Amino acid sequence: MTPKKRYALVGTGSRSRMYRDALLNTYSDTSELVAICDSNPVRMAVWQADLGLTLPAYPPAGFEEMLGRHRIDAVIVTTIDRTHHDYICRAMDAGCDVITEKPLTVDAAKCRQILDTQNRTGKKLTVTFNYRYAPRNSKVKELLQSGIIGTVTSVHFEWMLDTQHGADYFRRWHRDKRNSGGLMVHKSTHHFDLVNWWLSSRPETVMAMGDLRFYGRENAEARGEPRAYVRGTGDARAAGDPFALDMNKEPDLKRMYLDCESADGYIRDQNVFGDGISIEDEVGVMVRYQNRAVMTYHLCAFAPWEGYRVNFTGTKGRLEFEVVEKAYVSGGEGDHNLAKNILGAAPQDVVEPTSLVFRPHWGPPQTIAIPETNQGGHGGADTIMLEDIFGSKPAHDPLARAASHESGALSIMTGIAANRSMSTGLPVHVRDLLPGL
Ligand SMILES: NC(=O)c1ccc[n+]([C@@H]2O[C@H](COP(=O)([O-])OP(=O)(O)OC[C@H]3O[C@@H](n4cnc5c(N)ncnc54)[C@H](O)[C@@H]3O)[C@@H](O)[C@H]2O)c1
Repeated sequence: MTPKKRYALVGTGSRSRMYRDALLNTYSDTSELVAICDSNPVRMAVWQADLGLTLPAYPPAGFEEMLGRHRIDAVIVTTIDRTHHDYICRAMDAGCDVITEKPLTVDAAKCRQILDTQNRTGKKLTVTFNYRYAPRNSKVKELLQSGIIGTVTSVHFEWMLDTQHGADYFRRWHRDKRNSGGLMVHKSTHHFDLVNWWLSSRPETVMAMGDLRFYGRENAEARGEPRAYVRGTGDARAAGDPFALDMNKEPDLKRMYLDCESADGYIRDQNVFGDGISIEDEVGVMVRYQNRAVMTYHLCAFAPWEGYRVNFTGTKGRLEFEVVEKAYVSGGEGDHNLAKNILGAAPQDVVEPTSLVFRPHWGPPQTIAIPETNQGGHGGADTIMLEDIFGSKPAHDPLARAASHESGALSIMTGIAANRSMSTGLPVHVRDLLPGL
């Protein structure tokens, strides 16, 4: 009998629960979660207590000891973005394969360190780009790969984050660019990866303009809508504000964050209209790809609905794609199941049909049917991706959905170049940021 693959997980926050549950249930025949690591011992204890687990739990300084003592084969990295490179490199240097959450990392120097370490150690490094696996996104890849619109010359891509999910990036660690690389890296890495994959190409030149226009103290004050509270929990001034997160009303969030705060001071519910936000909430980007296609991309983090529109123009026609992930945000208390939404279960569910239309030259438009699923997060993508990562038989994958470290690096380089362009006002060549990629 083949021995079970032995996993350790580092970073026991909300995203890690998907991997924990997959390893303990669906994939328990072939895989074993053996040990965990996090900088917050209280959160590790809660994470275990939820399921009655008693896994050995290590602090960051004990990471190597954990890998050696428990003969770990592969490490799952679900810590905050700024720390990914550290655990990825330490794990590979200790002889482990790595599965890391996106983004691979937050800047070019850390990316270089990861690529060099992977090259030196030869270990397998997978970046979990779940969006590739959503059946609707896979369908687009299949159609473009079939040449239905000929050579793709341009992509017009708009992504809306709503005032519930989008606002959440401004409540916690993401709001500091040093932690997340800003939304261009933290969030748009998904979108830039999709485009690299859809076009089978790579970004060459990036130009971006962006700003903080909605969240933040100055914007709220300029609109005459200042909020005096520092955090949403336990402050009467936050009552009734749909932007405030009161963790006392959200048992899951209370257990996972509020009750663990004393150990590390991680404040999960900061005022999104407060000070200290160094990321943008609205950005426009232009990218020229190696295959000469040009993308115009826009991200807005304060939209009244959540989803995306992508239009591909090709030499034989157009492919027009619209996905509504959440039709609108209700400010009403009764409909305000925030914890469920921001922990990943609800907002990514498709609530309206996706629309995918092929418009050929000289012919009527054709609506393309897409297999929709609501099983698992992100429009069914998470479930399919987990099978690809942990399943015993690798699925036949003509669409090449499994993302390597190179895809991970290429996807963040568009965002890192966009950050550089926003600060200099100049176009940025990706090869100048990371020579040899
Ligand atoms: N693919 C997706 O759709 C998706 C969705 C959500 C999150 N994510 C990614 O998952 C990762 C985690 O996000 P989250 O929402 O679970 O965050 P979170 O804040 O809930 O959890 C982060 C965890 O990392 C721990 N941590 C922080 N610094 C650490 C350090 N130096 N060493 C060890 N542990 C440390 C924290 O204590 C916390 O337990 C992020 O990289 C995020 O981009 C991906």
